[in-house]
Amino acid sequence: MQNIISKLPEVSTTIFTVMSKMANEYNAINLSQGFPNFETNPELIDLVTHAMKKGYNQYAPMPGLLSLREIIAEKTNTLYESNYHPDTEVTVTAGATQAIFTIISAFINPGDEVIIFKPAYDSYEPSIELFGGTIVPIQLSAPGFTVDWQEVASKITSKTKMMIINTPHNPSGTILSKEDMLQLQKLLTNTDIILLSDEVYEHIVFDDQEHQSIARFPGLIERSFITASFGKTFHTTGWKMGYCIAPKELMREFRKVHQFNVFCTSHPMQHALSEFLKTPDNYLSLPNLFQQKRDLFLSLIKDSKFIYTPAAGTYFQLLNYTRITNENDITFAEKLTKEHKIASIPVSVFNLNQQDDKVLRFCFAKTDDTLKRAAEVLCKI
Ligand SMILES: Cc1ncc(COP(=O)(O)O)c(C=O)c1O
Repeated sequence: MQNIISKLPEVSTTIFTVMSKMANEYNAINLSQGFPNFETNPELIDLVTHAMKKGYNQYAPMPGLLSLREIIAEKTNTLYESNYHPDTEVTVTAGATQAIFTIISAFINPGDEVIIFKPAYDSYEPSIELFGGTIVPIQLSAPGFTVDWQEVASKITSKTKMMIINTPHNPSGTILSKEDMLQLQKLLTNTDIILLSDEVYEHIVFDDQEHQSIARFPGLIERSFITASFGKTFHTTGWKMGYCIAPKELMREFRKVHQFNVFCTSHPMQHALSEFLKTPDNYLSLPNLFQQKRDLFLSLIKDSKFIYTPAAGTYFQLLNYTRITNENDITFAEKLTKEHKIASIPVSVFNLNQQDDKVLRFCFAKTDDTLKRAAEVLCKI
């Protein structure tokens, strides 16, 4: 074939694949891609094995197993005092990525504008482009990554169809406050803008702060999808299991696409997850686990030349390296991988026009031993 016209001419291999490959090639400690290097709870593995042996190996119901949707609705309604209905308002997806893609494909038409905040998780933009949407980016900057809601208001036009937010935020590790959410609620009142709230790190929030889920704000719920990831919550990113929640009118449209997009997701894993979620400690223990890792990592690099604000959520820590070099972040990240044998993610790749704030993203969802080895390297730079 000679005349292949790409629908995504600008898209190449993601930075995660590039950096992980480089990490392997140079035998570097890999703090680049966002996944834990420790195992999930063996109980969860046993539950999957048990479900497979019991014969749950054929298609699951299209929106997901009812018992799983029930426990998801119960968890959400308990944590955020919402009132989602498991039958019509929760759908189990192949990770949050499929939920995000399906939401965008169900609602975005050519010419629709979608407001996103940069740096942004890298699946949003190509998904919008594929359906002819126009990306309206708003750049947030290190170190605070705070949102100027007046700037956001100035970007809303009659064509604005959707806005995508992400809290806790990858890659910055910041979180939106209650005040942010109230401002957002005020801004969107009396509009028909759909809000996609990517909350995959909802259970990874530190220092006794509360996750400000959309589900806490009745004025936002009516227009919103929330996306969530069991991969992030249960250290099983390779399973690609997640879900999304929305009021039934929105969810009805979502499911029209979902049933032809994947139809359903892994049946035995849904059985296992519905059991595992019955013990709230399995997700409520996450802040403790990851805060210990964040604090260990930061205490070990406190005398290094890197400058940082401790992450408020997620399992990512940004490190500013301006006391070391003036090089751009991609060059410096490559050098760190090749010469110092530690891989990270240069944040400029997620920014508008590759704005370079001279920060690298390090994933601390790693064993203490890995974090100690990484810190030793970072302290020598
Ligand atoms: C902000 C954000 N959204 C969505 C995802 C994707 O989640 P999943 O692996 O469940 O598709 C990630 C994974 O890195 C993420 O960081």
